[in-house]
Amino acid sequence: MIDKLTREMNLSDGELAELIATDRHDAELARNADRVRQSVYGKDVYIRGLIEFSNYCKNNCFYCGIRQSNEAVKRYRLSKEQILSCCDEGYGLGFRTFVLQGGEDPYYTDELMCEIVSLIKARHGDCAITLSLGERPKASYQAIFDAGADRYLLRHETADETHYRMLHPESMSLANRKECLWNLKEIGYQVGAGFMVGSPYQTVSSIIADIRFLQELRPAMIGIGPYITHKETPFKDFKSGSLELSLRLLSIIRLMFPYALLPATTALGTIAPNGRELGLTHGANVVMPNLSPVGVRKLYELYEDKICTGEEAAECRFCLDRRVASTGYAIAVHRGDVKDAQQEVLAAIGE
Ligand code: SAM
Ligand code: FES
Repeated sequence: MIDKLTREMNLSDGELAELIATDRHDAELARNADRVRQSVYGKDVYIRGLIEFSNYCKNNCFYCGIRQSNEAVKRYRLSKEQILSCCDEGYGLGFRTFVLQGGEDPYYTDELMCEIVSLIKARHGDCAITLSLGERPKASYQAIFDAGADRYLLRHETADETHYRMLHPESMSLANRKECLWNLKEIGYQVGAGFMVGSPYQTVSSIIADIRFLQELRPAMIGIGPYITHKETPFKDFKSGSLELSLRLLSIIRLMFPYALLPATTALGTIAPNGRELGLTHGANVVMPNLSPVGVRKLYELYEDKICTGEEAAECRFCLDRRVASTGYAIAVHRGDVKDAQQEVLAAIGE
């Protein structure tokens, strides 16, 4: 079945279910994923400097530590000057992509986001800007794109309607989340979708729905990492997702989407000390170390025991060099855009 998946980049629902129903480690699956990853991206690991610029959020996702109703969180916002200084420092450390991520915080109007994006582009024209600001109207995405943003991360979280309702309050909808993703794609962003592994009530069939949605959307980036429990959320009594299933899914997704940018997530590094290294040898090719000022890092606590909250950006960068080198790969100092051959293949077969 793994041969078939590698060859055809697809499986039937039944076959996928068989692969996903267990979280046993599968060396052949990992080997094939790594071979495919190396055939597309060689030994390169793409890095993105993550700037968590606000932990204010108007939403109340049941799994998330910075949800609006969590009154135990001390809230912060970074000024545009602080964001720019994170980028300046990151540039010196070799980052050529900055990811600005935050809760859904209306303080950052279109006007302010456009200003921040243009200021970064004016100083670091050779860098890509990725945004992860949640759901906004299409006109807002368009304005920020016109100001110079290149990419947008918006995990769909789950493509299974019933599951979506169990993870989110009534005010949110899967239909809107999907519409945002299609809008972003239409505007011309390199889009990232994705989901948590092992989120409460997730089933094999909801994961298959996630994979089918990804096949429809064909995003440039696919962010998957384990769900990790946070004690100040309604899901405080649920277990976190497993390392093994997260790695299996990374490998399966690499085989189905050979050209995708797949991060070895911070969440993966949080559930296992060498989680990110394992991610890189199971199909992942991107890491997103933290560039936020050390003073606010602990406050962006989506889940418990999040790693890299005490180190300065430079320390994180050197630690990462060592970790990546231990896998036999090497960090590439460039924007790290998606290779577009997959689009060419799809065009050639008339899809
Ligand atoms: N507000 C933006 C959005 O909704 O896309 C970006 C910030 S949001 C915190 C980024 C991602 O964190 C979410 O898409 C979700 O998948 C992930 N996340 C939230 N809570 C988590 C948890 N408890 N464990 C693992 N990942 C989590
Ligand atoms: Fe908004 Fe998590 S609920 S970022």
